[in-house]
Amino acid sequence: MKKQLLLATNNIHKVEEIKTILCNLPIEILTLKDLRKEIEVVEDGETLEENALKKAREIFTATKIPSLADDTGLEVFALNNAPGVYSARYAGENVTYQDNCSKLLNEMKNIQEENRGAQFRAVIAFVAKDFEKTEEGICTGKIIHSSRGAQGFGYDPIFLPDGFQHTFAELSSEEKNIISHRGQALKKMKLILEQYYQL
Ligand code: IMP
Repeated sequence: MKKQLLLATNNIHKVEEIKTILCNLPIEILTLKDLRKEIEVVEDGETLEENALKKAREIFTATKIPSLADDTGLEVFALNNAPGVYSARYAGENVTYQDNCSKLLNEMKNIQEENRGAQFRAVIAFVAKDFEKTEEGICTGKIIHSSRGAQGFGYDPIFLPDGFQHTFAELSSEEKNIISHRGQALKKMKLILEQYYQL
């Protein structure tokens, strides 16, 4: 049987990060684009876990190819962990990454330096026949006062990971992948995939 893994996301940034991190696994990594399939999954879960599992389950059901999905949220401690599961549509429906960053900076304009702590939390779900597993990764840091850097995507320009002088958007993709929420979750998921595919 051909060893294939389908990435259940249309986000090219996530596809690139996930492919890079899993590149040394001897399996064929496919995207929905490769299959020429347009499958929209409504992300209406109340947690990252629910959304990640929903995406992986629906894409696996539609394709019968073992599927991997990611759902990520930025949790700002002073805002009771908002935007969290609503990170993608924080500033509304069909908004840009910049709209979301601007809204967050505005909400935090009166929050002092010591209270600007936040974390990215990623949940990765893997679904195959009679098999489901999720793994979580967390990266802590703080929200700075204005955007810096042009790499990455989403909230990267306003997130300074703990122990670094550079935002995620100022780090190379290799540097980000080592410390990021997605990198951490995928490192754990890699072990599950090795078992599942008997590598
Ligand atoms: P989702 O996991 O696609 O629902 O993403 C939720 C939101 O978090 C989106 O606005 C993404 O742009 C943002 N996001 C997800 N992963 C990252 C990341 O690694 N860095 C910065 N923003 C991210």
